[in-house]
Amino acid sequence: MQTFVTRQEIIEWRQQMRGDQKQIGFVPTMGALHQGHLALIKRACSENAEVVVSIFVNPKQFNQSADLQAYPRMLEADLALLNGLENLVIFAPDEEEMYPKDLPFSPMPLGRIGELLEGAHRPGHFEGVVHVVHHLFALIQPQKAYFGQKDFQQLAIIRLLNTYYGFGIDIIGCETVRDADGLAMSSRNLRLNAQERQNALAISRALHYVSNNTGKYPLDKVKQEARSIIEQAGLAIEYLEIVDPLTLENRSQWQQEQVCCVAAICGEVRLIDNMLCESVL
Ligand code: PAF
Repeated sequence: MQTFVTRQEIIEWRQQMRGDQKQIGFVPTMGALHQGHLALIKRACSENAEVVVSIFVNPKQFNQSADLQAYPRMLEADLALLNGLENLVIFAPDEEEMYPKDLPFSPMPLGRIGELLEGAHRPGHFEGVVHVVHHLFALIQPQKAYFGQKDFQQLAIIRLLNTYYGFGIDIIGCETVRDADGLAMSSRNLRLNAQERQNALAISRALHYVSNNTGKYPLDKVKQEARSIIEQAGLAIEYLEIVDPLTLENRSQWQQEQVCCVAAICGEVRLIDNMLCESVL
């Protein structure tokens, strides 16, 4: 496993891979790697000759400096977790390497999808995600890139970005990995104490409640009950919406497929999760 920290190292490595006609897979991360990341990385390794994993806590996508400060950073543990995987390159740049002053970037219009859910609650977040992913795609030029479906809206925006900038990368959305008790894996879970982690299970309980009752009762009633499940566990809901899987606009009636998306604060930690809910009728 090689670890690169400069753009130049990646550029040279990429040229060599092109010469060898190797297919490149890419998994962007902000580190504090867990089994969810590992599932993406292992899948990428099984589908590509070489895989790049980027580890970079991107300041541009944090709209609150306290959240950025508190984000876990553990590069050594991350490298130890990946040690032993073959054909893997780690790209762990600092901020100056990631955003050289003279590197041009023209932001893409996010449109309506950028205004909903996370877009409404974390102003500037998706602009920051688009900026860093644009630079990473341009630098690494992978054939395939892997993203978790836990960040459902991010995945939709990455697909837009790929089309808008004409990267032509195969964007692969991978299923959310959950702990045995249902909690969606997230680097942020590290910041929960034992009681908070227990309380946080209400999110996946609420999502399962919606999924199990999709089409059985009026949508508003199911949504209200799902909210109560989370609130009774002491979490503060930022949003709980049942949305169209493509446009992410709110649904007022059940249709064949919808996604329930949640953001809630547990202790001091902001958690998001979602679940595809299919109508049984
Ligand atoms: O999903 C994440 O971890 C981040 O948003 C990403 C895609 C690595 C960009 O910083």
